Amino acid sequence: MDKIVIEGGYPLKGTVNISGAKNAALPAVAACLLTGGPHRLRGIPRLRDIHTIKSIMEKLGTVFQETGEALEVDSGNLTAHEAPYELVKTMRASILLLGPLLARLGRARISLPGGCAIGARPVNLHLKALVSMGADIHMEHGYINAQASKLKGADIFFDIPTVTGTENIMMAAVTAEGTTTLRNAANEPEIKDLAEMLCAMGADIEGAGTDTIIVHGVDHLTPCEHTIIPDRIEAGTFMIAAALTRGDVHVNGCRPEHLTALTEKLRQTGTKITIKDKSIHVRGPESIESVDIKTMPFPGFATDLQAQFMALMTVAKGWSMFRETVFENRFIHVSELRRLGADIEINGNQALIRGREKLLSAPVMATDLRASASLILAGLVAEGGATEVHRIYHLDRGYEDIETKFRTLGAKIRREKGPSV
Ligand code: UD1
Repeated sequence: MDKIVIEGGYPLKGTVNISGAKNAALPAVAACLLTGGPHRLRGIPRLRDIHTIKSIMEKLGTVFQETGEALEVDSGNLTAHEAPYELVKTMRASILLLGPLLARLGRARISLPGGCAIGARPVNLHLKALVSMGADIHMEHGYINAQASKLKGADIFFDIPTVTGTENIMMAAVTAEGTTTLRNAANEPEIKDLAEMLCAMGADIEGAGTDTIIVHGVDHLTPCEHTIIPDRIEAGTFMIAAALTRGDVHVNGCRPEHLTALTEKLRQTGTKITIKDKSIHVRGPESIESVDIKTMPFPGFATDLQAQFMALMTVAKGWSMFRETVFENRFIHVSELRRLGADIEINGNQALIRGREKLLSAPVMATDLRASASLILAGLVAEGGATEVHRIYHLDRGYEDIETKFRTLGAKIRREKGPSV
């Protein structure tokens, strides 16, 4: 297994360009199942998760072609309707195939995603919504079997705003008979991006980006061209890294309006932030002030940036309190940060961090995608030799070429190849 080796102590300086958003690209690729192509998607990042969804869709008969800047996707000739366990177990977002397959073929067989490191992550709300749209759903041998000769519009209330749940139902509803109303819908920017793509295909959607989304079913969709929004989590990770290393970094090609909660928190730490149209300039403070964090659905502080911000607080002045409200078990990075000398106590969904003057290098193990980023950030400031981050396959799921990007900013970071598992 590959590992990442970091010599800490070098402030990041320069410009980093942000890739397309993983969490917008996955539903966009899945949406290409709704009608034959070729669809042209720009800004699709080269990531393991994207490779996984493409592999599943290839098995269904979808054809992908890279043409310059764009990914061409054609699902004109679908020959299967199943997402197998071997692939779904490596990426929970495979559940995004359920809505479009059901809408297009009237049936879908998707392996039930299991729990994952950060929590149980059930898909009950996806399934309940599809049942209220007339789908017949039953579980068998670990698979979700869904059938519907024609989905029907329905009034759906999500008990919890679910991001992929909202996306799945939006995709299922675009060609359903009648109108579907999604209440207490998630309003993350990735949902608005998907709605824009679906509208470019001929869908009729109002309210995406708010908690009530109305989808009027249409008879016919056409292939579309769409550019994915920039990855706000990648941008946020580099912003935090700049603050942590007392660096001076221009985060280019991002959407500052998607990062307001983080920007506000970073300013409270003493970090200087200047916002331009599609760029954020971050200058780290001499001394980092402590701030408290509570993760929330958008536009609140993103749970996907919690672990990275915690790395920052491990070397801040004083105490900070983190409350994780989105996932029940999202502090698994804590025991690894402790190996680098961080002083963190966990009590249920709260973590209390006492800032230390410095972290000390050590070998650590990545446990999930964002935890991996948190450990790399901590490694950038850990003193006394190299920090090795093991199990970085998690990182490759969601960050495009991260070590090259950090190296361009002056970090001493390299990947060492190991035997594959
Ligand atoms: C998406 C993102 C992930 C991010 C998360 C929260 C993608 C591919 N992934 O994940 O990076 O961390 O949003 O912003 O976009 N829940 C249920 N039942 C359901 C669905 C969800 O109880 O049927 C719960 C979950 O366990 C969790 C909460 O709702 O506690 C929010 O999860 P959800 O928004 O669905 O996360 P994902 O869409 O899986």
